[in-house]
Amino acid sequence: MPVAPSKPSNSAAPAGAENVDMPRRQPRLAKIPLLKMFVPPEALAPALTGTESAATDGSHAPLDVTPFSLPGSRLRSSPSAAARGWYAPALAGAPTTTRQAEILNTGIIGAPTGIEGVVNGTDNLSSTMICHDAPTAYNMTPRRITSPNVLVLGTVGSGKSSFTKTVLVMRPLLLRNHRAVVFDKKDQGGEGEYSSVARRLGAAPLRFDPDGSGTRLNLMDPLIASGTGLQGQMLLINAVARIARNDLPASEWEEKATRYALQNLFAEMEATDTTRAATTADLLPHLGDVPGDQNLSDLAKERFHQAGLSIRFGLENLLETYAGVFDGETSRNVDLAHKLTTFDVSQLPDDGPAVPTVMAIGNMWLMGRLRHERGYITNVVYEEGWHMIGGPSARLVKANQKLSRSLGISNVFVMHKGTDIPEDSPGYTVVQEAQTVYAFRQDRDEDARWVNQTFNFAPDTAETLMKLEVGNCVFKYGSNPETHMHHVRSDWEIDATNTDEAMAAGAATA
Ligand SMILES: Nc1ncnc2c1ncn2[C@@H]1O[C@H](COP(=O)(O)OP(=O)(O)OP(=O)(O)O)[C@@H](O)[C@H]1O
Ligand SMILES: [Mg+2]
Repeated sequence: MPVAPSKPSNSAAPAGAENVDMPRRQPRLAKIPLLKMFVPPEALAPALTGTESAATDGSHAPLDVTPFSLPGSRLRSSPSAAARGWYAPALAGAPTTTRQAEILNTGIIGAPTGIEGVVNGTDNLSSTMICHDAPTAYNMTPRRITSPNVLVLGTVGSGKSSFTKTVLVMRPLLLRNHRAVVFDKKDQGGEGEYSSVARRLGAAPLRFDPDGSGTRLNLMDPLIASGTGLQGQMLLINAVARIARNDLPASEWEEKATRYALQNLFAEMEATDTTRAATTADLLPHLGDVPGDQNLSDLAKERFHQAGLSIRFGLENLLETYAGVFDGETSRNVDLAHKLTTFDVSQLPDDGPAVPTVMAIGNMWLMGRLRHERGYITNVVYEEGWHMIGGPSARLVKANQKLSRSLGISNVFVMHKGTDIPEDSPGYTVVQEAQTVYAFRQDRDEDARWVNQTFNFAPDTAETLMKLEVGNCVFKYGSNPETHMHHVRSDWEIDATNTDEAMAAGAATA
């Protein structure tokens, strides 16, 4: 800034005032044009402020110069210097200060995660890599999160399954002692969308067929009682009966009658000394048994009998409709022989009890199976997880949260939106407990607001959620602030995870 010479003044002119003329009594060096750069600022202060008395008695205030009042270094723009490799900018410098420029420097924005776990994608703000694996974060000391459960939310086609297949299924399989179990709901060319992923990794999908020609799961599988006890078996029968009876909860009488039937069945199995496992068909005749040695009135006995029968009819309906899926012993191929196990329920009807029943039995079967094989981390993925936490089975998940953590299970629920889950339901508790959330695009304002409130996102994130591109999501773990993330896939992963092959094939032949 050009400065106009003016008379020195005795008044305490503010720092940065226009008066920068050299006073008479300044140090000698300050008078010599080139050498004055070596003069300490204190000596120059009176010269800059024009305060003579301060210079003489040495009691002047410390130098305080605002950057705007100083001319700053002049930018050189010399083509000849530039040609010789010197710094010679052609453009005038920007009128900014270092502090203003700092805010534009993304280099100082910290990476949202460390490098533990698996790569998820990149942070859209800082372009740094985001790494996270819920069980890894849970097992760290100190714990980064208090629950290993994960929620993946987003509207149709927003990229949830592509993300889940890569980040929550395939990549964690590379980690030591990790495996994955998937309940695969979406049909892709006559089979589940994870079937090709399973085959690429050398595993055979477990296919469930409504005609009974596929895999079978036994509601009474011995692993269930050995994993979660009689109480766990009771909970499962109650949940399945409730699913089969259109969400009608069991009454006190019905629960008592079911427990009595179970005890009778186990006593009978022990007495007959059979090596085969009990099945649902073995339980049915006992539902309706009435205790003889108790002081029950005839009316009470009749009520007890009827309570047992109503559970029996519900289960009978299920067995008759899905013969071959739930009757008999669990198929031999239901095992955790491979690192990836997929329960392909894509061919079972969308509505009705079959899908949630497979998920409920599968969940309890896993609990028993893992009890006998500790030391593994298992990501259990529920595609269309609403079937599991939006209905009666949520009670099972909630009751077994602690046990499943101790068995190394990380439950992953993939669903479109959360607004369908009643706030006072066990499913809502399960959702709230998830400490890792990947929220993909939400189309409806109320769904976006639900995500914002439930996971305590910043208020303006609701708007971001409604504008997310495919393959982008808002990611949050623990109490860390949420991050806008782009999911990155390798070419191999793109090939393995794309779900619009049928559409693409149609377009190619059109
Ligand atoms: N990271 C990504 N980058 C670019 N495109 C992607 C990405 N992830 C997914 N897509 C595209 O979006 C399509 C739909 O993805 P995906 O099946 O994962 O969605 P979805 O949310 O699971 O859908 P649905 O609700 O129907 O199950 C994919 O076939 C792919 O073409
Ligand atoms: Mg999907």
